[in-house]
Amino acid sequence: QTITEGKVSYKSPSNIALVKYWGKKENQLPQNPSISFTLDACATTTTVSFKKLDKLSDNYSFDLWFEGKVKEDFKPKIVTFFSRVAVYLPFLKAYHFTIETSNSFPHSSGIASSASGMSALALCMVALEKQLNPEMNDDYFVQKASFLARLGSGSACRSIEGDIVQWGKHEKTKGSSDLFGIKYPYVVHDNFKRFHDTILLVDKGQKQVSSTVGHNLMHNHPYATQRFEQAHDNLDKLIAVFKSGDLKEFIAIVESEALTLHAMMMTSMPYFILMKPNTLEIINKIWEFREKSGSNVCFTLDAGANVHVLYPENEKDIVFQFIKEELIAYCENQQYICDRIGFGAKQ
Ligand code: PMV
Repeated sequence: QTITEGKVSYKSPSNIALVKYWGKKENQLPQNPSISFTLDACATTTTVSFKKLDKLSDNYSFDLWFEGKVKEDFKPKIVTFFSRVAVYLPFLKAYHFTIETSNSFPHSSGIASSASGMSALALCMVALEKQLNPEMNDDYFVQKASFLARLGSGSACRSIEGDIVQWGKHEKTKGSSDLFGIKYPYVVHDNFKRFHDTILLVDKGQKQVSSTVGHNLMHNHPYATQRFEQAHDNLDKLIAVFKSGDLKEFIAIVESEALTLHAMMMTSMPYFILMKPNTLEIINKIWEFREKSGSNVCFTLDAGANVHVLYPENEKDIVFQFIKEELIAYCENQQYICDRIGFGAKQ
């Protein structure tokens, strides 16, 4: 089918890893499996308008608008993405694209938009492919979107579906693959339904070391082998935890994963630290509060200083009160984002 012009649009969420992806092989393939909660509030909305060119372009023909303004400095990322996915999207050089994108969260909040941004763009591209090939089935659509998103930013492949997504070959998880994320295929206890994630914005600045550099430092890392094995073990344990609803064990796995991620950064060569003093203040406050109240609140971290505070739905009132009274003071300009588990990208 030939289509001369049209428009596709997707809103795609961010995600927060419980077992972390840190270290990759060639072609954005992960060194270990990871699993995440898909988020709800933190999302990118992308609209791609496309127009058929008279002849194939030599390069990729597109312009890029971010929150209503032309954004030249994002273009190289898109060019890299297009060059990686071109073999899977043969129509890419036949169209001019106008890409308009915006985030639900404030820019320069220190929240990485690569997962939501790359997944939204990947979805738009597969949506265009579906217009050209209307027989494409839904399973293929979702899998291809995740596959392409991975080539944009590894963790973006976990943002297409909800509410829990696993990426990376893992012996015990049927259907798992290094090539794309899959919706977690086993039983999940009610304790984990609609879990909350309040994101405390500790440091809104640009991080000093990009995740690309960080991933690459896992080559020749002295603890790499053990770390990759540990991720497999933690995933084994999480499968049991998701089934039983054991929140104490959940906390132990998730917090250990967060600290291990940062331990890998601190023990690479060159070494670096992305946590800030307030990151540690918050962690200590969470531990104190848990000890005192018996709550099941816990934390996880991304590749940055911000803290994700995770808690079950039935504790939302007491934990949120604690957050407001004791943790917000450690955030830059008292800023935080209330998020929770979501159900994946939407048209
Ligand atoms: O998707 P990338 O290449 O930005 O890597 C993300 C890595 C972490 O956020 C630190 C962990 C993860 O699994 O999301």
